[in-house]
Amino acid sequence: MSAPYVIDQMISAKAIAARIEALSAEIAREFEGTSKLVVVGLLRGSFVFIADLVRELDLPVEVDFLEASSYGDGMESSREVRILKDLRGAIEGRDVLVVEDIVDTGFTLHHVTGMLASRGPARMKTIALLDKPSRREVDIKADWTGFEIPDEFVVGYGIDYAQRNRNLPYIGKVRFV
Ligand code: IMP
Ligand code: MG
Repeated sequence: MSAPYVIDQMISAKAIAARIEALSAEIAREFEGTSKLVVVGLLRGSFVFIADLVRELDLPVEVDFLEASSYGDGMESSREVRILKDLRGAIEGRDVLVVEDIVDTGFTLHHVTGMLASRGPARMKTIALLDKPSRREVDIKADWTGFEIPDEFVVGYGIDYAQRNRNLPYIGKVRFV
């Protein structure tokens, strides 16, 4: 059992929805004319974000998922990224949008984009709902970011602490009491 904590709201569901609307318009412009965009969600934290994002995207899309591990159940990145579940489909010659929940140290996004780039997509872009730039250890930035946040441990909107709180409709920060 983890120590008792409360969750303080940081980004409301309404603010997230408004940001996704704006980002979707930019993504649609970037990929205008695509015959097929493969939207790749990184499990499990991006599952809510990707669901809302693709419903705002006015493009022909396919959805696929990839699972990478770096955190385990704790609050610290292990810095060693393993692929636990690979994509079902091929991405060679395809337009790809990688969807991540949070870019923290940057190890996960760096590893995943390197691996996918080696498969020869026509174009690959990345989007992260949240970015914690002060925590970065690998020089990488998503092409689109929902919100930059300070060095706080957050949950909700798909994001967990020890697998809990993914179902909160907003982003909140964990505060131990
Ligand atoms: P990175 O490899 O250090 O950039 O970590 C990326 C992954 O760590 C994210 O996809 C999240 O799953 C997890 N992570 C980073 N920060 C948080 C947080 O504040 N709450 C929950 N998970 C986090
Ligand atoms: Mg993750």
